[in-house]
Amino acid sequence: MFAQRLALVCLVALLSLWTVSGRVRKINHAKLDRAEETNVIQSSEDDAAPLVNVELYYETLCPYSRAFINQQLYPTWSTASVGAIMNVTMVPYGNAQEAQDGNQWIFTCQHGPKECSANVLTACAVNLDQKNGLLGFIYCFENSDDPSNSTIQQKCANVAGFDWGQLSNCAAGQQGNTFEHLMAVKTDALNPPHKGVPWIVVNGVHNDEIQAEAVSDLIQLVCDTYTGTRPKDCPP
Ligand SMILES: *[C@@H]1O[C@H](CO)[C@@H](O)[C@H](O)[C@H]1NC(C)=O
Ligand SMILES: *[C@@H]1O[C@H](CO)[C@@H](O)[C@H](O)[C@H]1NC(C)=O
Repeated sequence: MFAQRLALVCLVALLSLWTVSGRVRKINHAKLDRAEETNVIQSSEDDAAPLVNVELYYETLCPYSRAFINQQLYPTWSTASVGAIMNVTMVPYGNAQEAQDGNQWIFTCQHGPKECSANVLTACAVNLDQKNGLLGFIYCFENSDDPSNSTIQQKCANVAGFDWGQLSNCAAGQQGNTFEHLMAVKTDALNPPHKGVPWIVVNGVHNDEIQAEAVSDLIQLVCDTYTGTRPKDCPP
């Protein structure tokens, strides 16, 4: 059935990183700059500087993933002048596994079936996002007592401007199954492969320094990576 893989836990990547997070203030941005050269998207701010691409590979019920969203990603993105230079990509799959069964993909998740359901719901939100409400929606339920509670999810969807009927239909059907499969494909294509979650990629690059600075001081990392005029809300 499921391929036997190295058992990954949702905190593996972090354990070694707390220890180095104190000495990553001087991060080497050469690799990031190289990655940015290929990005020609214009910032909404001013000059032709590309947005800072932040990709998050995670699991909806992993406490460390939730902490990153609630304490780093959402606060940084919702700081208006900094959010404007970010391009955030959410990939809710993490250490899950999948197997094909006819037209369907069967997912197995680290924190059980409830996590799979919340991953699929999030994958639907990523794909159906019409109004830039995605991160507000995700933060709202990830920051709640129980991200798998559908009453809470529905309330959060309404506040963030999603159509709950459309979203929950997606999550219950073939569409959500396909969207979540695409999250699996994206996760499995990571190079280097992820060793835990949250797993953060900035401008196409993942390394220990980027990961450590992202989980401890994302706003600084985003601001220092941006090649355009430094936004006014950036730390010095
Ligand atoms: C945002 O990132 C995605 C990949 O994660 C990329 O496909 C897309 O072109 C980027 N958009 C902008 C505006 O930079
Ligand atoms: C879900 O959340 C609602 C609102 O907070 C609460 O009343 C309800 O008991 C929760 N359901 C479960 C199954 O925990």
